Parts: sequence; structure tokens; C-alpha cells
Amino acid sequence: MDFPNSICYLNGEWLPLAQAKVSVLDRGFIFGDGIYEVVPVYYRQPFRFEQHLARFERSAREIGLANPLDRAGWRAVVDGLVSRLGEEHQFVYWQVTRGVAKRDFAFPPHATPTVFAMTSAFVRPSREQREGGLAAVTRADERWLRCDIKSVSLLGAVLARQYAAEQGADEVVQFRDGFLTEGSSSNVWAVRGGTVIAPPRDRLILEGIRYGLITELCAKLGIPFEARRLSQAEVAGADELMLTSATREVLPIVRLDGQPVGSGRPGPVYAKLRAGYDQAIEALRR
Ligand code: PDD
Repeated sequence: MDFPNSICYLNGEWLPLAQAKVSVLDRGFIFGDGIYEVVPVYYRQPFRFEQHLARFERSAREIGLANPLDRAGWRAVVDGLVSRLGEEHQFVYWQVTRGVAKRDFAFPPHATPTVFAMTSAFVRPSREQREGGLAAVTRADERWLRCDIKSVSLLGAVLARQYAAEQGADEVVQFRDGFLTEGSSSNVWAVRGGTVIAPPRDRLILEGIRYGLITELCAKLGIPFEARRLSQAEVAGADELMLTSATREVLPIVRLDGQPVGSGRPGPVYAKLRAGYDQAIEALRR
């Protein structure tokens, strides 16, 4: 396989990605026993870094894993990667697993967590995606009941995204017991009668760092926001649908299961939030 020619961080060392090696007994490899973060970097500065750190700390607590680095330590890892790659916009990925141990489901008493981080050049969503929008398909949410933890156990997300890919769609919009949860790797938003509506922040969705950002932008721009359960019929009949994630920022969903969403074009609420998002990014430019 072709590795990007970049430097990564593995257990305290900086080395080319192609040379980074982890034991086959790593619990990340064996059990998916670990957690991760994806942080967008604009103008070489991590965007909403404190919020990403806070979410990572929470994920660590929820799975009983001692966070191996403090906030200054994580900052040094991220800054180290960003300056080594040098690109203006990047996205940093990091993960921590419970370490290398004999295969046994219960936590190993003495394993040292495996700490890995890498960065890539961030190709921001294209003009076509921003102005033309995305296609999504609906699907029953078959993931586990702790989607609030940003876990590297991602088989449910992989199968969901593959389902979308096989239908030529960009993302799935998942429903549990008939109510909206989220995409395979994004939060999903509906607009009805001028109000932005998203599922509540509970254990059935990952609270995206952009979840907080969108609610802040709504408050700032005077757009009403509601967190509540949304039925599949309400989503299908929404005026606008959007998704958010670190790598997709905020994008409109203009087709759902082959049908147009609202007018079938990116809507006015999306346009305002998009502009607000871009403004927040531009504030990082020095
Ligand atoms: N995924 N929900 C799920 C299930 C996700 O995996 C993600 C992000 C989000 C959005 O969170 P944020 O706004 O913090 O990116 C919601 C990342 C991008 C990934 O796994 O690559």
C-alpha cells in the first residue's frame, strides 16, 4: 500500500508512517479496545482543540482508560505533527488503545496504553459539495448503545457507510426505533419551519464538536434550535437536511433515498450556518 509521506507519533517517537509498527496483540487490533479523535487544523491551528480534548478525556473515562497524556502533552503531539507536515490545512487523527497483552477480554492489569497520532493534508469540502449538496440514504441504526463514546470499534459505522457507497450515496441517515440518530461518521440536522432540529445528546449519538458549534451559531444568528427526537417522517419531510463532521464541516443533504429534500437545493438556513462556519475558520488566520 502507498503510505503518505508523513511523520507520525507512536509511543513517544516521531517516525515515518510506513515505519510505525504495532504488535498484533495490541488490544486495538484484537478487540477494537480504544478511543480516538479527529481534529481539523486550519492555518496550522487546531480548531476547537479544547473541546476535542474534553471529549477525548470523557471517552477515556467512560471506558476506564487512563489518559496517557495531559493537555499540554496532547498539544505538543498535535503541534509537532502539524509543523512537521507544514500544510496550511490538515486533519490530525489520534488514538489510544488499552495496549498490548495476552488475549483476554477483561482489562489487562499491567498493559501500557498504545498512543498513536498522524496528520494528513485536509482537502476541504469542494465547491460542488458545498453548492450542490450530498445524497444520503436511510438505514436502521444497528450500532451498539454507547455511540456517545468515540471508540475505534467502528464496524457498525463501516457497514453503514458501505451500504451508502453501494447505492452511490455519500452518507447514511440512521434511525433507531424510527427516530433519527446520526450518520455513519457525522451528526445530522433537520430544518423545519425555520427551526434547526437535532437529536438530543444522549448515548445514541456521538456529540460532535460541531454539534456545539452549530448550536452556538444558531444562537448568534437568531436561528431557533431544538434538541428533540425526530421521526423518520419528519426527516423525510424536512425543508432542509444537513450533516456536520470534522472533515465534512457543514454540508447540505439534498437527496434522501433518491427523493429531493425540500426544494432539492441547499437551503437558506444551511447558507447562514455555512457562512458562520467559514467565519469561525477565518478567525484562525493570522
Ligand atoms: N467522525 N457522529 C459520528 C458517529 C462520528 O463518527 C462523527 C465524526 C461525528 C461528528 O463529530 P465531529 O463534529 O466532532 O467531527 C458524529 C470523524 C470525523 C471520523 O470518525 O472520522
